[in-house]
Amino acid sequence: MTDAPRGWAVTPSTEIPTVAFGNQKGGTGKTTATINSAAALATRDHEVLAIDLDPQADLTKGLGLGPGDDTDPSNPKNALPNTLVTDDANLLDVLVDNPRTHDTNLSEIVIRADEYDHLNFDLVPSHKDMGLARDWMDDANARLSLKVALEELVEDGYDYDFILIDCPPDLSVLTDAAFIASQNALLAAQTQATSRDALDDLWDQLESIEDNQQIEIGIVGLLANMYRDDGQSRKFETVFTESFASMAPIFKLPMRVAIQRAWDNGRDIFEWEDANDQQVERDVFGDIAETMERAFDRAPVEA
Ligand SMILES: Nc1ncnc2c1ncn2[C@@H]1O[C@H](COP(=O)(O)OP(=O)(O)O)[C@@H](O)[C@H]1O
Ligand SMILES: [Mg+2]
Repeated sequence: MTDAPRGWAVTPSTEIPTVAFGNQKGGTGKTTATINSAAALATRDHEVLAIDLDPQADLTKGLGLGPGDDTDPSNPKNALPNTLVTDDANLLDVLVDNPRTHDTNLSEIVIRADEYDHLNFDLVPSHKDMGLARDWMDDANARLSLKVALEELVEDGYDYDFILIDCPPDLSVLTDAAFIASQNALLAAQTQATSRDALDDLWDQLESIEDNQQIEIGIVGLLANMYRDDGQSRKFETVFTESFASMAPIFKLPMRVAIQRAWDNGRDIFEWEDANDQQVERDVFGDIAETMERAFDRAPVEA
């Protein structure tokens, strides 16, 4: 793994601090980290937009705006609409030149936090049509589509303190579009052997995007997720530290059952209360939020 020095944080063309949560491996905690970092920033009074770029739509579902839960009538998701199946314009229409909807702007599909009690930040939901993205986004311009969409969002008067993008578990055109638009990555990995190769491949991908697009991509941090206090976790914590600690902070998040429960109930970890104490995970995401504030020089908003 290369240890070339990298930018700490890069301001993208919109001037809005923007971070893509990536790793082509599935199940590493990208979606968990996107939702809860967005919520942590929001609890610090920042205006935040989260974008669900994954056709699997776990972020949208994890905020309760996907299908309900027919196994549990008391699940609060059942009271919320399923935004993944609407006939209205959706994220795919924004990213591709769709003759059906012509020029759909991101501003038309943003769900505002004040539309729902449980939402702490604005959301661009995924959609079932996003499964077609990889087939339709087949030219060089497609890689720039999210960057252009975010620039248009700012032109439309939307002014966020932070924008967070949840990437799909692959190195597809969608992930490239996220890194090009954000110019900053937060990498989520589990402290286990297979993470090392995955991070090497991801690193190569980031460098190739930097070369092709002539941009810099900052590494805001590495989330060492599902950390267990055992030999395997400690070994890969050392590997991560040797490779990353000189360029970006490493955040350790242990296995916490409340994280899964919160997602199942369509709530972020700051909204969700259950019998377990949620302080450990709230503190980790609070640290990530504070690091982003420092990296981008955005002080917490005074209450
Ligand atoms: N620290 C953790 N403790 C317990 N469960 C976790 C933790 N991080 C993630 N999970 C759970 O693991 C699964 C995969 O996480 P997710 O964030 O969806 O990964 P990705 O987006 O990288 O595929 C989800 O069910 C999530 O709730
Ligand atoms: Mg995910």
